[in-house]
Amino acid sequence: MEKNRIQIFDTTLRDGEQVPGCQLNTKEKVIIANKLELLGVDVIEAGFPISSPVDYLSVQEICKSVSQTIVCALSRAVEKDIEIAGLALKYAKRPRIHTGIGTSNCHIRYKFNSTPEKIIERAIYAVKYAKRFVEDVEFYAEDAGRTENEFLAKVCENVIKNGATVINIPDTTGYCLPEEYGNKIRFLKENVKGIHKVILSTHCHNDLGLATANSLSGIMNGAEQIECTINGIGERAGNTSLEEIVMIIKQNSHLNLFTNINTKLIYSTSNLVSECMGMKVQANKAIVGINAFSHSSGIHQDGVLKKRETYESINPEDVGINKSSIILTARSGRAAIAYRYKKLGYFLNKNSLDLVYSIFLQYADEKKEITDIELKAILEKANLNNGKTNQVLHTNANGNSRRINVL
Ligand code: KIV
Ligand code: ZN
Repeated sequence: MEKNRIQIFDTTLRDGEQVPGCQLNTKEKVIIANKLELLGVDVIEAGFPISSPVDYLSVQEICKSVSQTIVCALSRAVEKDIEIAGLALKYAKRPRIHTGIGTSNCHIRYKFNSTPEKIIERAIYAVKYAKRFVEDVEFYAEDAGRTENEFLAKVCENVIKNGATVINIPDTTGYCLPEEYGNKIRFLKENVKGIHKVILSTHCHNDLGLATANSLSGIMNGAEQIECTINGIGERAGNTSLEEIVMIIKQNSHLNLFTNINTKLIYSTSNLVSECMGMKVQANKAIVGINAFSHSSGIHQDGVLKKRETYESINPEDVGINKSSIILTARSGRAAIAYRYKKLGYFLNKNSLDLVYSIFLQYADEKKEITDIELKAILEKANLNNGKTNQVLHTNANGNSRRINVL
């Protein structure tokens, strides 16, 4: 069965950059955009040009710098926004304007003090106006997660009729459950005239920790594009994380989906974004957190050292991480300690290992993690063979030889 491609729309530089205190300058944005292009994203949402002169300039410079990826600029359904977005995209080889309006009762009533009919008129006008500047116009129905499906379908049908090429269904407040969001996408696929001519996109927020699950449910029900950010950053609790959704697709071939992402660049891209934004990735973050491929309990370490797959379903090399790490803590066992000593050039026989292990536990109970320096101190304290070592030549499985100390 032929696989279907899911397009990756990266909004790290727009929705992601809305994180308080993480604003980027133009140079940093261009560096990240170039990395995103290398990573293989299909669309880079470069910014919201009307929002500030720096954002306008950043979008413009990204357009000049990026060679083949679609560059997208955000606007509200407001003439001036759309005009400025169009101007900022002037140098893009493949420009896209992303325009839209709130469609939920809450937005219509309280944000716009308007009526559903007037909202449809504004949506149509925004798309038609954006078409004066670019051919590729993406329409977002803000707060689609809380919009009644029948009305949402009506809005979508109207904007498609007037030239929208991509329809974005944001769960702006992270409100939906995966089944509910998937059903919404399926409903639109089955009830909107013209929907098969356009790309249907997910855009999920993580207020209840469901952004990735909802995006997955969206593509399993017919969406063809996912909007996401590196490290899952974004407003409030963030957006769907690019690394999570891409690896879910890669790991589950039965979904019959694929992306163009070069997954081996995921870790370096995550580091770049984290450094530029001065925002650390949480240690237990899936795929890119420092602990994502670290093992510290004795049972897990023993298993991983025998065969990596016992406690890892993802190969760290697939996301650009050299290998799994064995962290020494008070929960570690002899196998892990012997492994780490071997890496330092010491082979411990059973009696030596027993003695070293008892000293190790005294250190480990006082410390969070035992380092190589402390491992050497432990050896000195154990005073094995009265400090004398017996050197032998050891050849590993790859045929490389080195001298190791047998104790
Ligand atoms: O979350 C959202 O609704 C958005 C739109 C502006 C696309 O970010
Ligand atoms: Zn958003």
